[in-house]
Amino acid sequence: MQIDIIAGTRPNLVKVAPLISAIERFTSDCKYDENVLSYRFIYTGQHYDKNLSTNFFKDLNIPEPHLNLDVGSGSHSVQTANIMVGYESAIMNSKPDLCIVVGDVNSTLACALAAKKCNVEVAHIEAGIRSGDRTMPEETNRIATDSISDWFYTTGETANNNLLNSGCSTEQIITVGNIMIDSLVNKISEFRKPNFWDTHQLDNTNYLLLTLHRPENVDNPDTLRKLLSAVDQHAYGRKVLFPVHPRTKAILNSLDLNLENIELFEPLRYLEFMYLVSHCCSVITDSGGLSEETTFLKKPCITLRSSTERPETIEIGTNVLVGKNIDELANYLRKACHSQWKQGKIPPLWDGKTAQRIVDHLVSRCLQEKQNYMSA
Ligand code: UD1
Repeated sequence: MQIDIIAGTRPNLVKVAPLISAIERFTSDCKYDENVLSYRFIYTGQHYDKNLSTNFFKDLNIPEPHLNLDVGSGSHSVQTANIMVGYESAIMNSKPDLCIVVGDVNSTLACALAAKKCNVEVAHIEAGIRSGDRTMPEETNRIATDSISDWFYTTGETANNNLLNSGCSTEQIITVGNIMIDSLVNKISEFRKPNFWDTHQLDNTNYLLLTLHRPENVDNPDTLRKLLSAVDQHAYGRKVLFPVHPRTKAILNSLDLNLENIELFEPLRYLEFMYLVSHCCSVITDSGGLSEETTFLKKPCITLRSSTERPETIEIGTNVLVGKNIDELANYLRKACHSQWKQGKIPPLWDGKTAQRIVDHLVSRCLQEKQNYMSA
């Protein structure tokens, strides 16, 4: 089986890394004929800054892509269309049997669409999750990708139910767990202090970690100002480390802010960022993936969103949603800084073996197809 594996953004890289290494492992130990599973890795170039791409390739030991579509930034339609055109031409050059997409970014939807238009089967990793918030571009990407996918690799029961309710059949849904946690488990022993750890005299109790990049929080200068001022004022003597996403930086530059506790940094590489996550007092974020990582690491996570597509991070894990409610934010910051946080648990199948379960399923499908062919 010839597989295309697609990634386009920083969080996509964290999700494809374990899959690529599980396929490599399978191929090198392979007791079947060598064509059972082979892959082509395609990077769309949606994220292109070194901090958001190259450094993640290095830290996660991701091989050079076989093809980089180099699409760069643009409006949603321009970006999605450019990725479709680039990937369609890659399919024309060499048609795969299956296209695997991950997550919910524009690259996910664009490649799923291009594949289906060329009659290539699509498998979606992290399928079925829903925030219910139709204003999020990611929610459109999730719904549209799932509506045309053939195989759904899911994190658990909530996602399965969403898919079943939208008409998917049980045979198409494979519960594999959380692949982002595979990267965390694989790399945890390599997490390392960023070089400013000592110069900033950081320790395990004296800092909070902030990330913000969602359009609804950062695109409007007044909203961004309000959120940052609130975090700055309720830091309870902690430093607030804020690695700034390029989208946020563009707006931040136009604000004349006088922040006492918040310190700005360039986006960090995976191993250093995850070191900060695993040692911080609390994370404040609008990222969905980060709320999963904090749940696994049992670190308090305050999410500046009013919905989540990952309810297990709240029901089982250490995440809380505060939206843009400044009083709630202040209240939870106080709790986090005074060690009054709920005890979370790790959700089922967040065990570092998700990629292996996906490869097992792919191999069993290949063998089944071969058997069907032989007996026909
Ligand atoms: C994208 C995803 C979002 C994901 C996030 C992770 C979509 C719709 N959004 O958001 O779901 O959580 O990635 O980071 O796919 N830019 C740079 N350098 C880069 C990339 C982007 O400067 O390497 C700037 C550009 O000005 C660009 C803006 O950031 O226009 C937004 O980038 P884009 O990829 O469109 O969306 P993200 O906000 O990164």
